[in-house]
Amino acid sequence: MSTSTINIGICGLGTVGQGVWKHIESNRAALESRLGVTLNLARASVRDLTKKRSVRIAASKFTTDPLSIATDPSIHIVCELIGGVTLAREVTLAALKAGKTVVSANKALLCKHGPELFAAARKHGGHFFFEASVAGGIPIIKALREGLVANRFKLIYGILNGTCNYILTRMEREGLSYQAILAEAKVLGYAEADESLDVEGWDTAHKASILAFLAHGTWVPVEKMLVEGITQITQADLAFARENGYAIKLLAVITREIDTGEVFVRVHPTLVPKTKVLANVNEVYNGISVTGDVVGETVYIGRGAGQDPTASAVISDIVDGVILLNRGNTHLPELAETRASLTPLQSITGRYYLRLEVKDEPGVLAKISGATAKLHVSIASVLQRPSDMPGAASLILTTHKSNEKAIRATITRLRRLSSVLGEPVLLRIADF
Ligand SMILES: NC(=O)c1ccc[n+]([C@@H]2O[C@H](COP(=O)([O-])OP(=O)(O)OC[C@H]3O[C@@H](n4cnc5c(N)ncnc54)[C@H](OP(=O)(O)O)[C@@H]3O)[C@@H](O)[C@H]2O)c1
Repeated sequence: MSTSTINIGICGLGTVGQGVWKHIESNRAALESRLGVTLNLARASVRDLTKKRSVRIAASKFTTDPLSIATDPSIHIVCELIGGVTLAREVTLAALKAGKTVVSANKALLCKHGPELFAAARKHGGHFFFEASVAGGIPIIKALREGLVANRFKLIYGILNGTCNYILTRMEREGLSYQAILAEAKVLGYAEADESLDVEGWDTAHKASILAFLAHGTWVPVEKMLVEGITQITQADLAFARENGYAIKLLAVITREIDTGEVFVRVHPTLVPKTKVLANVNEVYNGISVTGDVVGETVYIGRGAGQDPTASAVISDIVDGVILLNRGNTHLPELAETRASLTPLQSITGRYYLRLEVKDEPGVLAKISGATAKLHVSIASVLQRPSDMPGAASLILTTHKSNEKAIRATITRLRRLSSVLGEPVLLRIADF
């Protein structure tokens, strides 16, 4: 089908939807001249018709029923910008079953129903695009799918959550506590009222799942990942990092053993050497390093969320949709699905940083080194600092190369020691 007017339906006219509408209007001339078509923003759906919007749209274009847009035969491209997984799934499936192109920014939907959506697109001859679901304005999906298609990816790591990066950056710069910066971030709109999905690492995990699928053709559910957040990070950790040439970043790390095909996806705060580009990606910015066996390392930096960067990604998908429609709806190369197995924990190796709040009394160090030695975790350095807890000291250990299984067992053992107070804080030291 080749058509000179592309009718676009925007389901969900909130932060992202209004951004898409605004930027298609403002860049219409350039977009249309590149594509050789007229882009018609035909319809929009919202929940509340009385809400004031930042874009001017004729009342006749509005509906409260997004399914009526998804099934409208005159609409070519449906943007699902509602969020959530229930209505969003219904709308997306209805549009795909009608053979339409769907553009989504919805990482939760993709993680939960990705295979079903891809199958529906395949079966009915439509397309499903999702560039905005990971890292906002950074075209990382396109990079993995197109620009780096010649490669196999042994390592991808990245800062995928702007809220966490903002909190860690400000804690580092201003010497304030996690709680103090979080409270400010909420006031400034950089953190959600319920911040848990972000700060406990789950938002990053969802995005990592999508990247792992694109890179390796296998869905790693977030429940199978190692996921740790930033809530335990204190000034003691940041001071150690600073004094030893590191920055602390919440990273998603996706590794693949090229020989065995085993994949592992993890999310955790990491000590990243300051010499690495990503250690210097600050504030709400995201950054991703992709190492391909052909290209070597490539690095991408940009704003990971917000109205404009997300709209930029959605519009790039709309443009891809238009090109495919006008080329006779040819298919993109299929993503090769593999049945990669998960790397066993003992094969995930690295160096570790461990902060323990301990009773300030003789013999404590001997008990701790006894516990680590039992599991063959070899200590590289020990540092004692004053603790915020009365009668306690902070003990900061770093290890030589060890593995996840041994370090987890060590922590279990350390928790049982009466001289260890509170929860041990574990950070990984990046050796990539
Ligand atoms: N915001 C970002 O920076 C960002 C970045 C990357 C990806 N995303 C993703 O983009 C999607 C949209 O996010 P957003 O921030 O734009 O959300 P939002 O501001 O909450 O907008 C959601 C829109 O959907 C409409 N809607 C919600 N529930 C509905 C229902 N039951 N029936 C009909 N309409 C309904 C809302 O209508 P009303 O306006 O009438 O309430 C609103 O227009 C999400 O999947 C999100 O994860 C967002």
